[in-house]
Amino acid sequence: MCETAFNELCQPRPEWPGEEYSFLKDSDMPAFHRSLPGYAPTPLLELPALAAKLGLGEIHVKDEGQRFGIKAFKALGASYAMYRFLKKRWQERFAEPFTPASFQDSKALEKLGSFTFCAATDGNHGRAVAWTAKKLGQKAMIYMPADSVAARVENIRGEGAEVVLVEGTFDLCVERCAADAARNGWQAISDTAYAGYREIPGWILLGYTTIFAELAGVLHGPMKVGIDLVILPAGVGGLAAAGAFYYSRHYGARRPYLVCAEPVSSDCFLESVRFGKGEPLPTKGRQTSIMAGLNCGVPSPLAWPIVRDAYPFFLAFGDGYAEQAMRQYYRPLKNDPQVIAGESGSSGLAALLALTTSPKLAEVRARLPLGKGSRVLLVNTEGDTDPVNFKKIVETP
Ligand SMILES: Cc1ncc(COP(=O)(O)O)c(C=O)c1O
Repeated sequence: MCETAFNELCQPRPEWPGEEYSFLKDSDMPAFHRSLPGYAPTPLLELPALAAKLGLGEIHVKDEGQRFGIKAFKALGASYAMYRFLKKRWQERFAEPFTPASFQDSKALEKLGSFTFCAATDGNHGRAVAWTAKKLGQKAMIYMPADSVAARVENIRGEGAEVVLVEGTFDLCVERCAADAARNGWQAISDTAYAGYREIPGWILLGYTTIFAELAGVLHGPMKVGIDLVILPAGVGGLAAAGAFYYSRHYGARRPYLVCAEPVSSDCFLESVRFGKGEPLPTKGRQTSIMAGLNCGVPSPLAWPIVRDAYPFFLAFGDGYAEQAMRQYYRPLKNDPQVIAGESGSSGLAALLALTTSPKLAEVRARLPLGKGSRVLLVNTEGDTDPVNFKKIVETP
């Protein structure tokens, strides 16, 4: 089952001026990430045999499955936001600069005192916040839906964080986390914005742009982007907005065609494009997808205008495509490399499989740059973060 929407509000040269988007001028993210122990650019893989089978020119996969050893791109956002938060605190109190090296310096951190960081998550963002807090020697409280799979809860506890299980959806976890942070004086590191809270999700979004910055000189040239179409998944929209911002800033109207991918049961971006008049709307779905990281009911109000202005096309699809994509990555054709992709991680390929193989989408496909010579970029956003279900899915013939 698939739903599609072409976006009439998409602009040829999107820009996000004004004070509330001034953070988009910052550019120290790749340098910060390079300073972290264990940093390495994630691999860029090519799948020529699959491209030929799907009638495309090239398929490139930026594989975030091993990012910082925590199996998802989310570490880029949480670490950068927590660095910027501490830097801001430092600048309020001390005259010396706070640099990426200060972030590793226990004496500097001691001067700042202790914090309890908290975050709501379907898994990966919370693990990234817990991982960063542990590196900083600080506490983390992570809010998760009570029906989260055990492996994702244990991954977070394994980083030394306390997990609070909330009866309800991710969106309820965001509310609970924000309320508890205000009551207890904790610092929320939320990847979605809400009333009065935009700075940290803005830094998280910027942190994700390192994924695309790593492709400069490898896939992307200074004048030519080198690809025709990019598919990015959306949960609250931070990653989708990071891609929109990166490609718009560097390539303007020559940016690649951007496709936003979501599960049908949490298709809040697609619903907003289809039924809204420019404002974000909630999904009507029940948020039950196996693509746990994408189970978000409302777009982040910070990410939404960026996604709305830059994406011409939105696709929502059922879990069957995600399972098919995980198996396709796991059992590659001919000499294509193997990719270990979790449920949310596989969503870009899932969308591509839907677009290239579903007869119901033939007319839609004809309107997209998905022909014989087309060059497509996907991001595998996570590895096997739930190894038990991963095994079950990929071992099904
Ligand atoms: C693996 C994975 N992919 C994609 C996403 C979507 O990112 P965002 O919520 O920034 O849209 C998430 C979010 O948690 C995720 O964990």
